[in-house]
Amino acid sequence: MKYKFPSNFWWGSATSATQIEGAASEEGKDKNIWDYWFEKEPNRFFDQVGPEKTSNFYYTYKQDIQHMKEIGHNSFRLSISWSRLLPNGKVNQKAVDFYDHVINELIANGIEPFVNLFHFDMPLSMQELGGWENRIVVEKYKEYANICFQLFGDRVRKWFTFNEPIVPVEGGYLYDFHYPNIVDAKRAVQVAYHTMIAHAKAIQLFRRFNFKDSKIGIILNLTPSYPRSNNPADLRASRIADLFFNRSFLDPAVYGEYPSELIEILTKYGQMPNTEVTDKELLKANTIDILGINYYQPRRVKAKEYLPNPYAPFMPDMFFDLYEMPGRKMNAYRGWEIYEKGIYDILVNLRDNYGNIESFISENGMGVQDEERFIKDGVIQDDYRIDFIREHLKWVHKAIAEACNVKGYHLWTFMDNWSWLNAYKNRYGFYSVELSTMKRTPKKSAYWFKKIAENNGF
Ligand code: BG6
Repeated sequence: MKYKFPSNFWWGSATSATQIEGAASEEGKDKNIWDYWFEKEPNRFFDQVGPEKTSNFYYTYKQDIQHMKEIGHNSFRLSISWSRLLPNGKVNQKAVDFYDHVINELIANGIEPFVNLFHFDMPLSMQELGGWENRIVVEKYKEYANICFQLFGDRVRKWFTFNEPIVPVEGGYLYDFHYPNIVDAKRAVQVAYHTMIAHAKAIQLFRRFNFKDSKIGIILNLTPSYPRSNNPADLRASRIADLFFNRSFLDPAVYGEYPSELIEILTKYGQMPNTEVTDKELLKANTIDILGINYYQPRRVKAKEYLPNPYAPFMPDMFFDLYEMPGRKMNAYRGWEIYEKGIYDILVNLRDNYGNIESFISENGMGVQDEERFIKDGVIQDDYRIDFIREHLKWVHKAIAEACNVKGYHLWTFMDNWSWLNAYKNRYGFYSVELSTMKRTPKKSAYWFKKIAENNGF
């Protein structure tokens, strides 16, 4: 075997509550922003498919966990739905039972649950208070986290405060692809900042529980910035893109401090958030134990071609243009570049500049449209996905050989799930889901992954 991974390497996959649970208006669950937005603007969603049923995991978790076991999972990330657990702010016993059963079932099958508290799914009642713009919501999140730790902390050993916290900032407050569809950088900065305050408060609380052998972290979509050339203008553009889209969360998460250059830019342009005096200390004292890395694509940038319009609103893109590198390899369905070495560059950066913090690949994957085209002998022959995973894993393997502290690989995702605005357009799963019957069928990649997980390499 050429690529052998360390023993106890985490093999598995990741998903989120809204994307698989279904039962969105059943069993006591309250609305979150996705339920509400779909009601209001269904035409925003691919084929007008909303979050009501998604992949029905709420009812099929037992069978799904058996499937995970069959393909060699030793770990699996899910998220808890805040609006299911605490509708109207009160604990919903049915939700407690559901998450209890899922966690217990995973453990009983030798699959470690990695639990994330927030995956893009702000409860509508919290959004009505202003979402992350309002500090009260930070306190509400802290109460929610506290209840989760109390209920499940005896069994869950890996906790995550947020998944890709920058995405609701980009989607909801800059580029209009999440509710509340606001375009306002100053408000975006406030949302980003309060998210990190909520994160630090959850960590502070978690430490008080003193759980044995437990860790807490955050999951970030690290998108390395590659400059078009070594020209100082391109290098500057790339450095600033990195500040806005990676370091804005990575630095406070790992070091408890914001990069000074980011503060300088935001101050210069009048975009600094409101803060409280004790925030600095809070952030500094409550850094993560473990980092989840979601990696799909690089960000290639160049210096701006034209001077920004002086009357246009402030946007991070004032400092760089995106660059389409000639000859780049694309996943045309999702419109994302595939650049496998990016995963290695992230890990080396963490080793060299972030104290080699313990990490794992918490998401990586390939969404493809109309996969039934590839059915042969009853199985979707997703060789493109196998290639995609294998080529990324080779770079992860090289990073490990060079002393990077990376402990596992989770695919996005276990079974086809609902992808926000793209609904069921692009399919990512090891298992396909036939929407009218909800039937799960393993794809070729599922069989392949099983071998890799069992052999701990390939
Ligand atoms: C990540 C998210 O950004 O990428 C997931 O954590 C998401 O929630 C996944 O589904 C794939 O992206 P998309 O937009 O194709 O669903």
